[in-house]
Order: sequence, then structure tokens, then C-alpha cells
Amino acid sequence: MKGLVYHGTKNVSVDTVPDSKIEKPTDVVVKITTTNICGSDLHMYDGRTNVKKGTVLGHENLGRVEEVGNAVDTVKVGDYVCLPFNIGCGFCANCERGLTGFCLTCAEPGSAGAAYGFAGMGPYRGGQAEYLRVPYADFNCLQLPADVKEKENDYVMLSDIFPTGWHATRLAGLKPGDSVVIYGAGPVGLMAGLSAIIQGASKVMIVDRHPDRLKLAEKIGAVAIDDSKGDAVEKVLALTEGLGADCGCEAVGFQCQDHHGHEVPNLTMNNLVNSVKATGGIGVVGVFLPTDPGASDVMAKSGQIAFDFGTFWFKGQKIGTGQANVKAYNRKLRDLITAGKAKPSIIVSHELPLDQAPAAYKDFDDRKKGWTKVILKPAK
Ligand SMILES: NC(=O)c1ccc[n+]([C@@H]2O[C@H](COP(=O)([O-])OP(=O)(O)OC[C@H]3O[C@@H](n4cnc5c(N)ncnc54)[C@H](O)[C@@H]3O)[C@@H](O)[C@H]2O)c1
Ligand SMILES: [Zn+2]
Ligand SMILES: [Zn+2]
Repeated sequence: MKGLVYHGTKNVSVDTVPDSKIEKPTDVVVKITTTNICGSDLHMYDGRTNVKKGTVLGHENLGRVEEVGNAVDTVKVGDYVCLPFNIGCGFCANCERGLTGFCLTCAEPGSAGAAYGFAGMGPYRGGQAEYLRVPYADFNCLQLPADVKEKENDYVMLSDIFPTGWHATRLAGLKPGDSVVIYGAGPVGLMAGLSAIIQGASKVMIVDRHPDRLKLAEKIGAVAIDDSKGDAVEKVLALTEGLGADCGCEAVGFQCQDHHGHEVPNLTMNNLVNSVKATGGIGVVGVFLPTDPGASDVMAKSGQIAFDFGTFWFKGQKIGTGQANVKAYNRKLRDLITAGKAKPSIIVSHELPLDQAPAAYKDFDDRKKGWTKVILKPAK
């Protein structure tokens, strides 16, 4: 089969790789019909993770079940399913509590959390390929309704960014009527904005510097803040009577930059401390890593940032972090899509065949104008 293989920094290609097959009776094999490129893939593409050369990437996957293991009860050949990017077993202490982003049995030894085609999250191949092996299929497959053909580009967002955006707002403790500031108008930040609006936020402010992404922020009903035109913190304070937003979300991660494009790893976290009100919550879904040897900043090389802890403490703020537990949300978010109450595909800018993925990685990585979310169609 064909798959998108990571060969090293900014070097990916579509190669012939061994076919995905049933390895345990609890597996299914899915023929991938839609799979996305994610900002998380870009951390790997940029050579800023320990992802192994030869890894097939792709963790935002949807497709048709082709083959079913002997011990699978509920999933049938022909079902259309969306796969959470995190792989859970369903029976470990964390999965039992709904914390499937931190599965203990699917993870690498001594770690928590597994995912398809992902640095440090187990040996699982990704789905930017023709076929994908799905472990513990009864637990991990989200069944999709009959309208999947027309809403496939919406349902695929249930694999990651829609639940992740939602998770950011839950970590932040958003309540109906709250104002929220979101740093990053990439796919995750935009989904956090959409989630906040669905949950009844009174004001959603999204900070970025790319006009195309800021336009999408406005389209979903947020106030767009262009931090290349003035200080974002001051703008948020001006919009919230000097108090700061009720809560905030980080949707950028460790490669966050100033608006000139220089990496400043503590920028978004300290901006959040300064633009969220006293006692407010901060939800951090942007990825931060234990080590980042490629960082230009000395502290960041060992996963540290100069965090405004004094101000954070003085303001009595709270913080929640980590990979999204997709399964905690995807079923109900699917129902919002089915009911026509959420349309996450509005951020899709490119729909391409798999063989165009290497060029698409480059353009998405360059945050080239108009490249807001790339989806790949390996079956076409
Ligand atoms: N926690 C999870 O489960 C999870 C899931 C998916 C993605 N992620 C992470 O979320 C982050 C965002 O993902 P994405 O797909 O939206 O990525 P993206 O790279 O497409 O978007 C990031 C956006 O942040 C903007 N940005 C950079 N520096 C900024 C700053 N200082 N202030 C404001 N905006 C700034 C960029 O211009 C860009 O538009 C990544 O770190 C990704 O790995 C986490
Ligand atoms: Zn993703
Ligand atoms: Zn588990």
C-alpha cells in the first residue's frame, strides 16, 4: 500500500510500505477515505520531535472498515468510522476514567498515551496511507451515520481538532456567558472558538497574525485580534474592561513565535497569564515537550520556559494541560454535526490526493496564505 513516510527534517514522501493487517483479534483494518494534516504533524516535519525515520504519519483518520478481527463484536465490514487520534485500551486505570489520551497499556513502557503515527506515542503507524490498523476496535471506532458521504469533511474533524478545541475550553473551565481569549487561529484554535460559541461564550477573542486565519475566526463569530498590529494583551484588556478574559486557551504550542517569526517559547503562556482575569482558568492544548534539542532558547532545549509564575499565582489562576481525551467528546460532537449544529469543515482549504501530501506539508508548514486545513483523500 501507499503511505506518507517521514524521512527526516522537512523530508516526507509517499512510498510503498507493508500493508496494514490484523495483528490481534481485537483489531480492524480501515480503508482510509479522509485523513488530515495537523499542526502536530508539523512539529514532527520540522524535525522538532524524536519521531523515528520511516514512520508513516497521520493521526486524523476516517474510513470504511475492510477487515475485522475475530474478537471484534460491534464493528462490521463496510461501516464508516472515525478514529480518535489517541489509541485507548478501554480497561486501564486512565481509560476507565475517560482519560483515553493517557492510556497506560497502549503507550510506550513507562509512559502514558498512544497515537497513530506520532512521536513518543507508541509503534502505531499513521493513516496518511491507504489502510490503517485500528487496535481495540470496539472501543476506538466511532460509528458514523448514513450522511457520512456528504459530511465526511465534518466528521473527520472528530478524530482530533474538534474534540481538542472543545477540550481546551473544558480545561479552561469555560461557562455560558464567559469571555475567552484563544491564542492561535490554526485549526485547533478555530475549533476552540467554535466550541466556545456552541457552549454559550459571550465573547470569543482569537489572536493570530495570518489574515486568512483571522478571517475564519470572524466567520465562526469570534473577535479577531491581529497581534502584528498591536499588543494582543492590551487589546484583550481593552475588550474586557481592563479585567482580562474569564478564561483562555493555548492553541499554538512550543514553537510559538513573535509576529516577526522568531520563536519565543514562553510568549503565549505569559500572554495568557496577563490577558486572563484573576481566578480565571487556562486550557493548554498546544503541544509542549519534555525536551526540544532543536530549540534556539537554552531553557527550551530541556522543555522549560520562563513562566510568569508569580503573576499566575498572585492572580489565583488555574491551568489544565495535555493531549485531548477525544473519546470523552467525540460521540456528542458527532451528534452536533449530524443535527446540523456544528460545521467544523468550514476551515478546510485544500482537499488533495495522497500523492500531493509532500507538497502540501511544505505549504501548510510555511503557513502559506490560504492554507488553513489540508485534508487528503487516499482512496481517490
Ligand atoms: N492537545 C492535543 O490533543 C492536540 C491535538 C491537536 C493539535 N495539538 C497542538 O495544537 C497546536 C495547534 O495546532 P494547529 O493544527 O492549529 O497548528 P498550526 O500550526 O496550524 O496553528 C498554530 C497557529 O498559531 C499561530 N501563532 C504562532 N505564534 C503565535 C503567538 N505567539 N500568538 C498567537 N498565535 C500564534 C500561528 O500563526 C498559527 O496560525 C499544535 O501545537 C498542535 O501540535 C494538540
Ligand atoms: Zn492532529
Ligand atoms: Zn487504556
